[in-house]
Amino acid sequence: MRNDLLLRLLDAFVVVAVAVAGLWAWRRWHYRSFWLVAGYPLMAVSVRTTWRKVALGCGLTKKRHRWWFTLVPNAVASTGMVKVRRRFQRIAVDTKPWMWLPRPTRYGWRVTVHLLEGQIPDDYAQAAEQLAHSWRVHAVRVSSPRPGRVVLAATMRDPLVRVDEIPPSSELLKVTVGRLETGKPWEIDFRTVPHWLNAGATQSGKSNLANALIVGLAPQPVALVGFDLKGGVEFTPYAPRLSALATSRAESVGLLDDLVALMADRMGLCRQASARNIWQLPPALRPVPVVVLVDELAELYLMADKSEKDEIAKTSTALLRVAQLGRAFGIYLFCCGQRIGSDLGPGVTALRAQCSGRICHRVNDPETATMTLGDLDPAALVSARAIPAETPGVAIVAGQDGQWYRARSFYVSEHAAEHAARMYADLTPSWEEITSGTQGSEITEADLTELIDA
Ligand SMILES: Nc1ncnc2c1ncn2[C@@H]1O[C@H](COP(=O)(O)OP(=O)(O)OP(=O)(O)O)[C@@H](O)[C@H]1O
Ligand SMILES: [Mg+2]
Repeated sequence: MRNDLLLRLLDAFVVVAVAVAGLWAWRRWHYRSFWLVAGYPLMAVSVRTTWRKVALGCGLTKKRHRWWFTLVPNAVASTGMVKVRRRFQRIAVDTKPWMWLPRPTRYGWRVTVHLLEGQIPDDYAQAAEQLAHSWRVHAVRVSSPRPGRVVLAATMRDPLVRVDEIPPSSELLKVTVGRLETGKPWEIDFRTVPHWLNAGATQSGKSNLANALIVGLAPQPVALVGFDLKGGVEFTPYAPRLSALATSRAESVGLLDDLVALMADRMGLCRQASARNIWQLPPALRPVPVVVLVDELAELYLMADKSEKDEIAKTSTALLRVAQLGRAFGIYLFCCGQRIGSDLGPGVTALRAQCSGRICHRVNDPETATMTLGDLDPAALVSARAIPAETPGVAIVAGQDGQWYRARSFYVSEHAAEHAARMYADLTPSWEEITSGTQGSEITEADLTELIDA
């Protein structure tokens, strides 16, 4: 009899152990199906049933007056705050915002909440961290798709700890460089956002992102130009796919002059064909787009002694001109640097204003994040400062839509970028070919005003 009981207990133990191990293995090997079938329904029930407590704890409720009826006066405390003395009484209760049913997403869930009177989406953004802790999730992001509603998107775990490759983009000048926190591809599209600033502390993943761009752009019919003021250590291995490379200040001045002359030439071409930009030209006449990669931007502006002053002024003006006019004439900038601050001179501030694409990797000081991300939502700055050193390649990205995202680039080793550069070396247009016929053309102040105003 006792043996029988023991055997049954053992059986039950084995069944439970197998079930737990099965669930663990399911979660481990196919998290998505586990989440949809087992994790999400439990979580949805728990979020809905605890919403009142969570909203109260996070300060998202409002006091409202209600009529309260009780058969036992004096014995009931309606909300724990108001003691009911009469049978029928008007009392204050905490009302929670109306919450829809949470919907599952790839990395968590999202739910729409109706704002209570007097609330704004910012109240929820401020409470995002409290909500994340209350729900025991990695992060909660708040957006407001229409007045009176907020969408709370919760991610169960950091989706950027491991990012897997996605197929490359097949569109011209568009490169998939990584993944956004939302699970969508992180794309750098030069035709939508022509110029980019890529900032971050040392070892934060700036060059890795430039490598990803090189790998993505190498098979496309574009010319790549490099400015590598670290003496060429970063870009020289990619020389087979670069149409031009400047590794010193003197070379940079020459190359920037070429770029300005190239713009003037393309401007003339567009004017002749009555086109506003190269994309309006017939394909046979359209010149090749040029993507300019700059590593260590600060080096272009740093002055060792007074004799360099003129050279720096020239570089700064030329780079700014490229940024101002490049978009129309198919010349795009991607500038990387540890510091992109105004301490480097007024040229950098003006250049920054022209670069609408902003990428901020891990930073050591709040100023760099502020300089890079500008006047974005303060939560973006907090997020940029919270990027841990263990996850190089994670960055805050701001594009044209005014939204900001956490994202992580794919890991692209120097070896992979070098391999791509060699493999597509035959697609490299020669710099002489690109710049032939640019002699003598100049951009006048009148042209500049006309184009900037256009
Ligand atoms: N997305 C990523 N995934 C995994 N590892 C990465 C990623 N990005 C960068 N790394 C790793 O981080 C290290 C530093 O990256 P990287 O050289 O791009 O930094 P950096 O910001 O250019 O630094 P520096 O300012 O010193 O040039 C590299 O060794 C690389 O292996
Ligand atoms: Mg680097």
